[in-house]
Amino acid sequence: MCGIFGIVMDREQVLGPVLVESGRRLAYRGYDSVGCATVAADGTIDLRKGVGRIEDVSVQLDFSAMRGIRGITQLRWATFGAPSYANAQPHLDSDGDMVGAHNGNVVNNVQMRELFIREGLTVRGSNDGETCVHAVERHFDRNGGDMLAAIRAAYADLEGDYAFVITHHGDQRLYAIKKGSGLVAGLGDGLSCISSDLPSILPITRRIVRIRDGEIVVLSPNAVELYNVQDGSRIQRPEERYDGPIEVAEKGGYPHFMLKEIHEEPTVAGELLHLLQSSPHVERFLGALTATGDRPAYLVGCGTSYHACLLGAYYFNQVAHRAVVPVLAPQFIEQYGESVGPEDTAVFVSQSGETKDVLNAIKVMRKRGGRVLGVLNVLGSSLMQQSDAYLPLACGYEISVPATKTFVNQCVLFLYLAYRLAGRNTDELQALPGLLAQCLADTDGPAREVANYVGKWSALHYLGYGITHPIALEAALKLKEITYAHCEGMFSSEFKHGPLSAVHDGYPVLFVTAPQDEMMMINHVNEVTTRGGRSIAIAAEHPALRSNVQDYLVVPPSNRFLFPILATLPAQLIAYHMSVGRGIDPDFPRNLSKTLTVD
Ligand code: F6R
Repeated sequence: MCGIFGIVMDREQVLGPVLVESGRRLAYRGYDSVGCATVAADGTIDLRKGVGRIEDVSVQLDFSAMRGIRGITQLRWATFGAPSYANAQPHLDSDGDMVGAHNGNVVNNVQMRELFIREGLTVRGSNDGETCVHAVERHFDRNGGDMLAAIRAAYADLEGDYAFVITHHGDQRLYAIKKGSGLVAGLGDGLSCISSDLPSILPITRRIVRIRDGEIVVLSPNAVELYNVQDGSRIQRPEERYDGPIEVAEKGGYPHFMLKEIHEEPTVAGELLHLLQSSPHVERFLGALTATGDRPAYLVGCGTSYHACLLGAYYFNQVAHRAVVPVLAPQFIEQYGESVGPEDTAVFVSQSGETKDVLNAIKVMRKRGGRVLGVLNVLGSSLMQQSDAYLPLACGYEISVPATKTFVNQCVLFLYLAYRLAGRNTDELQALPGLLAQCLADTDGPAREVANYVGKWSALHYLGYGITHPIALEAALKLKEITYAHCEGMFSSEFKHGPLSAVHDGYPVLFVTAPQDEMMMINHVNEVTTRGGRSIAIAAEHPALRSNVQDYLVVPPSNRFLFPILATLPAQLIAYHMSVGRGIDPDFPRNLSKTLTVD
């Protein structure tokens, strides 16, 4: 949620293009508003910002033409203050001498704003990013103009988790602070920069410095200096060289990143399986999962990642005969936070590796002395740094806000681990990439037709039985997320216990049915069709099931365990086509952000 980027050069130049490109690479973090500020060599601040997405606002306000020796970009996901010009970031201080922007949540924002207003500062909006700027301004004015001291004092005033970047027009440096939200610095020839995330830094430099909580960063053209916010002491940390790939956020001929990422699923699944065969961390994972004795391990995540945990629990039970407990991250704290201990293992699953709810749960697990394992896509993320051992999802960057390929690989990873625990031959899984490719080719056309039909409805249901229940939940989440229709995912046998009353003429219900469950599912299908509902099956070919439904998306034949992963693809395609059919951009659904670093 929210992205910040800042850069300091050794001489004034046109900074607009680098600010726009960095912003574009952070757009997945928020797209309610966007702004850029530059400071010229003579100290003049040029601030341009507006509501909307970077592609549009940057053109309307001609960001590319902005010149300066220092610059800041901010992408906003609204928390405090509705999306508006006043709440768009960056923000100026009262007299326009400072400009800054933040990411995160200042939870005492309202109280701080009231204080500023009482003290006579010029408060223009209700956003907590503005609060960060005034918090620094206030101490700066009192202490005779020492930025570092002012930021340290502001830190003591600001409650919550955040990161911000700020500069004074008369100072050649840019300052940043990290408290809970991601921050990484870069060093190049005659420049330094800072960002919420690596993708916006890598096109500029591969020399990076990772910032930790409680650190202030002072950026000048040739140096990145770190200071401890508590006592002001200097921290020495050598720069690292990052040699990973620079992911280019290009659509590669697809109309949307989401469709491109769905089409990457066969490839990334194959790459993950290959990587798992040789990863030294797999043994540590398996050891930690079995070291709990009779106590089950926990699989912890949020949203789509949680749905993968749900499927993981079926895999561990049905393939490896081991119980694991899938649990939402905040629920883990409330339900198990007082009972876990050193003998317990929890696997924290997060695409971004930055989800605050997940990091909160890790804190509890650490405090209780338990083992922390991570499953993540973003290397270098907080989750990776805080795990005793981690496994990467190896998907490359997922740009589109709805998680697609990372969900598939989370499920593949759990299935692989379950096979290993069961001592089952993992070669069986090698068929998966080919089956995924076939599934995409076979179901895209039918998914379009189903999307045409369900697109006329504002409410619908997805039902799954047992091992396909997590897929029904995930399919419903994806559909809600990018079509704005209401869609509920349920265990199919539960439907008759109340929700069946939603069914009337033509009401769409999609049944995700695994091999061996067809005859059971026919009962649930008929409860819908006899009441005039339209039953749509996602299943491998099964004549009896076919004769009971109105539409059938045929998934290639496979074993029972591969099926849920394959069935995910038509569900993602239905959501995608329905979203596009409704004129929505599935990559940037309203109100959402790819990385949720707030409570
Ligand atoms: C939905 C989606 C979200 C995320 C959730 C957790 O498509 O992407 O539900 O799954 O916000 O994010 P991570 O996996 O980054 O912790």
